[in-house]
Amino acid sequence: MLIRTKIRYYFHIFAPANFSNFSLMNEVRILDKNFSEFLTEKEIQKRIEELAVEINRDLAGKEVVFLGILNGAFLFAADLFRRIDFPARISFIKLASYQGTSSSGLIKELIGWNEDIKNKTIVVVEDIVDTGNTLERIVDELVIRKASDIKIAAMLYKPAAYTKKIPLDYIGFEIPNDFVVGYGLDYDGFGRNLTSVYTLIK
Ligand code: IMP
Ligand code: MG
Repeated sequence: MLIRTKIRYYFHIFAPANFSNFSLMNEVRILDKNFSEFLTEKEIQKRIEELAVEINRDLAGKEVVFLGILNGAFLFAADLFRRIDFPARISFIKLASYQGTSSSGLIKELIGWNEDIKNKTIVVVEDIVDTGNTLERIVDELVIRKASDIKIAAMLYKPAAYTKKIPLDYIGFEIPNDFVVGYGLDYDGFGRNLTSVYTLIK
């Protein structure tokens, strides 16, 4: 244990400045940006445990499908779902961007629907709700597919950025309107494997 600590310390001092995901004290550098630890792994896991207790209490006995939104929600979905103590299904969908013919030029399509949604209680599992645009797309689609009840579980929520009226049922943490990475969230594809959440140092 002592040896391991020393090696890690050595590595911290001599690692190159732009080493991806590299931890210096509680700061990380990803590509060209520095981030500082904002929510620790322990805080995140404790909060997920609390959310799971609520969900277990609220939804036991219903026919529930957890619907994780890829890529960002993969860790949160896994950590939350393993704490669900009633029989339930889990499935994942993804927002795929492609060049369309709308005026904006960019249309997002939801792909990967292979679970029957009709008459089921759906728990949408999101890494972060920012403006709420993504969430609204998903909820619209769930209504079309005739879900009987729609619940939203979001690990992170930026109330200052949210522009929608859809109520969020299970919120991990309300955070300021700053860019964050880690625990599934990325900066240009990197940082998803960090076990804490980090905020951009401006
Ligand atoms: P919204 O549609 O604006 O609510 O945000 C949707 C998506 O943007 C989220 O699911 C994330 O993938 C991404 N996003 C929003 N805020 C952040 C952030 O602070 N860091 C990383 N990704 C973010
Ligand atoms: Mg997302």
